[in-house]
Amino acid sequence: MLEVDGLVKAFGGFHAVDGCTLRVAKGEILGLIGPNGAGKTTLFNLVAGALQPTAGTIRFLGEDITALPTDARFHKGLVRTFQIPHEFHNLTARENLMMVPPRQPGENLFANWFAAGKVRAAEEAVRQKADDTLAFLELTHVADERAGNLSGGQKKLLELGRTMMTDAKLVLLDEPAAGVNRTLLRKLEEKILILNRERGYTFILIEHDMEMIEKLCAPVVCMAEGKVLIQGDFHTVRSDSRVLEAYLGETPTAVEREAAEHDPKVEELREQELHREDL
Ligand SMILES: Nc1ncnc2c1ncn2[C@@H]1O[C@H](COP(=O)(O)OP(=O)(O)OP(=O)(O)O)[C@@H](O)[C@H]1O
Ligand SMILES: [Mg+2]
Repeated sequence: MLEVDGLVKAFGGFHAVDGCTLRVAKGEILGLIGPNGAGKTTLFNLVAGALQPTAGTIRFLGEDITALPTDARFHKGLVRTFQIPHEFHNLTARENLMMVPPRQPGENLFANWFAAGKVRAAEEAVRQKADDTLAFLELTHVADERAGNLSGGQKKLLELGRTMMTDAKLVLLDEPAAGVNRTLLRKLEEKILILNRERGYTFILIEHDMEMIEKLCAPVVCMAEGKVLIQGDFHTVRSDSRVLEAYLGETPTAVEREAAEHDPKVEELREQELHREDL
């Protein structure tokens, strides 16, 4: 479904992605792991079209999309979510979903804008789809809540919902588990699995949460310094000496993370997060 060959992205003299070659087959949930700064998000930006590669090619469903703009890739069913959710704070959860541009031109509200009578029908269809999506994600109770007031986990679910509004084929999920409490995390995992098994979505999932990777992903690919180190099943990849070595280089960050775990500010945010789950 996706073929990435010899992809390079240079920022000045620094190669954030440095000759990356990767295959994703239809129906997979490919787990993309690697230490901080390995180039995972940059790879997503290249595949989604937010960045142009310095070298290399990207093929999607057999077609070379390397030069295509983001929206053209989106219309082909290649959709990404963000490491930090990109919701519109002041719109409600439902409105956030209704804002997603449709993949089928016929569904476009604005194309029908001047056609009397069609507007309401089109809007009603989009609203219905948004409500179905909210129901699937178990977010119906916050449909009219401003997205800015949702918990971190609910925002991640809403991001997933945005991909459902477009009937995506390949979804790039960048750290869906980050900042999500355990209860919502289980829900997020369950929804990703249903979308994969029952609705035919293919995923690439970047995650530092190894439990989530182990549960959902096959194959697993580990990147380091802009390159693919190894691809295989979870246990093979996790126990590979090159992977362990790549993560060792991350020690200062791991120490920082450990320190952050006990930071009272972080504790306070977590409390707020738990409180918001009650919404
Ligand atoms: N726009 C940019 N300009 C310059 N350097 C960049 C830019 N974007 C990313 N980088 C650098 O490229 C490297 C890879 O960054 P990237 O965000 O892709 O890593 P990552 O694997 O997603 O890391 P993390 O797990 O921390 O999210 C980092 O060293 C980063 O500082
Ligand atoms: Mg990243």
